[in-house]
Amino acid sequence: MEVIYSAAQLTFRTVSLREAGKTIGFVPTMGALHVGHLTLVHQSILENSITVVSIFVNPTQFNDKGDLDKYPRMPERDLEMLRTTGCNIVFMPNEKEIYPEPDTRLFDFGGLDKIMEGKQRPGHFNGVAQVVTRFFDIVKPHRAYFGLKDFQQLAIIKKVVSDLQYQVEIIPCAIVREPDGLAMSSRNMLLSSKEHFQALAISKTLFSAKTMKNHSTPEEVRKYVMAKLRSSEGVELEYFDIIHGVTLQPVKKWETKDFIVGCVAARVGKIRLIDNINFSS
Ligand code: PAJ
Repeated sequence: MEVIYSAAQLTFRTVSLREAGKTIGFVPTMGALHVGHLTLVHQSILENSITVVSIFVNPTQFNDKGDLDKYPRMPERDLEMLRTTGCNIVFMPNEKEIYPEPDTRLFDFGGLDKIMEGKQRPGHFNGVAQVVTRFFDIVKPHRAYFGLKDFQQLAIIKKVVSDLQYQVEIIPCAIVREPDGLAMSSRNMLLSSKEHFQALAISKTLFSAKTMKNHSTPEEVRKYVMAKLRSSEGVELEYFDIIHGVTLQPVKKWETKDFIVGCVAARVGKIRLIDNINFSS
């Protein structure tokens, strides 16, 4: 496993690998890796000749400086975990490599950023699009792997790739959960054991919401989830929306042909968590 710090050096490597007929899979991360991240890495290894993983805590996507400061950073441990996967290249740039000049680009997401995470965290998705397009320019991957855990992020990246005609296939990967149901997240390690227990209300409520689908309308399910989470000790609900998986618009009916997802964000103590459930599977 090769560790590369320079953007120019990485482009040189991946361009020559492409020219030699190799396919390149790319997994962008912010480090503090867990099994959810490693699942993306394993899928890329299965589907490509070369897998590149990036570790970079991107400042432009944090609208809250406190959140950026406390974001967990553990590069040595991350490298150890990646060595066990068989990935080929780890890209660990510093901020100057990614942003030699301040990135002033403003993206138009056609409204996909006006709800849920985009509404709660102004500028967040613009920062995500800045860093991801910068990575695509540097790595030039054939395929890039993103988790369905960050459902809105995935929808927005697909739109950016299609609008800007990037020649990269976006591969969605299923949510990986702890055995107790909590969606894996780098932020989980910031939870105390009491908070971890309290956070289980989020996934438990999503799972029971799914069982209501056959006898309740989306609005009834939404009300149930909101009431349940509002009364869960230690959980402060930010939003729960039942949306169309492509347009991200709230749905009123369970149309069988549609891909429908329920997305939630909540704070447990000082930690903000997101999760979602696919109502169509
Ligand atoms: P990060 O939160 O580190 O996540 C990196 C990738 O891992 C994302 O595609 C995310 O959806 C996926 N992931 C995280 N937890 C997961 C889980 N429990 N199951 C499945 N996939 C999971 O998302 C980011 O970083 C950043 O915004 C990034 C795209 C790297 C841009 O900075």
